[in-house]
Amino acid sequence: MGAVKRGEIKAVAARDQLTINNERSNMKKLLTLSVVILAASALSAAAGDAKEAYEKDCAKCHGTDGKGDTKMGKKLGAKDYTDAKVQSEFKDEAGVKAIKEGFKDKEGKQVMKPTEGISDADAKALIAHMRKFKK
Ligand code: HEC
Repeated sequence: MGAVKRGEIKAVAARDQLTINNERSNMKKLLTLSVVILAASALSAAAGDAKEAYEKDCAKCHGTDGKGDTKMGKKLGAKDYTDAKVQSEFKDEAGVKAIKEGFKDKEGKQVMKPTEGISDADAKALIAHMRKFKK
């Protein structure tokens, strides 16, 4: 262990700087990768999980089978979405609007709350899922 010379200190400093730069660039790569993964999973959520979202947020009233045969559904007057006539009574756009803004019955009572922050695409996917109930 002799005295450290100036040149050696510089070399060590330069090496440390190199390591730091390397770590930074790895960090950047990692960040980019996680952003890509997040974006991909958000996309597949929009496309694939309408059923899951429906069962989580809508089935307590409309029923897993769309019949509205639940405690809440009966109380609020949810219709039977397996009925072709009920299905023909609303357009996709009206359904999307009902999901985004909520739905009021004839007396103006809000029977369904707006789904906060839902995108058009996710609302459309929910409608597409509900269309499958039709017998
Ligand atoms: C608190 C109970 C409740 C929840 C939760 C609920 N709804 Fe409704 N919804 C109703 C009732 C009641 C109606 C009016 C009667 C009917 O059409 O079934 C209605 C109406 C609708 C309509 C018809 C709109 C129209 O123009 O005729 C659609 C579509 C719909 N709901 C979809 C959904 C979706 C999708 C979800 C989940 C994000 C959901 N609802 C959550 C109670 C609910």
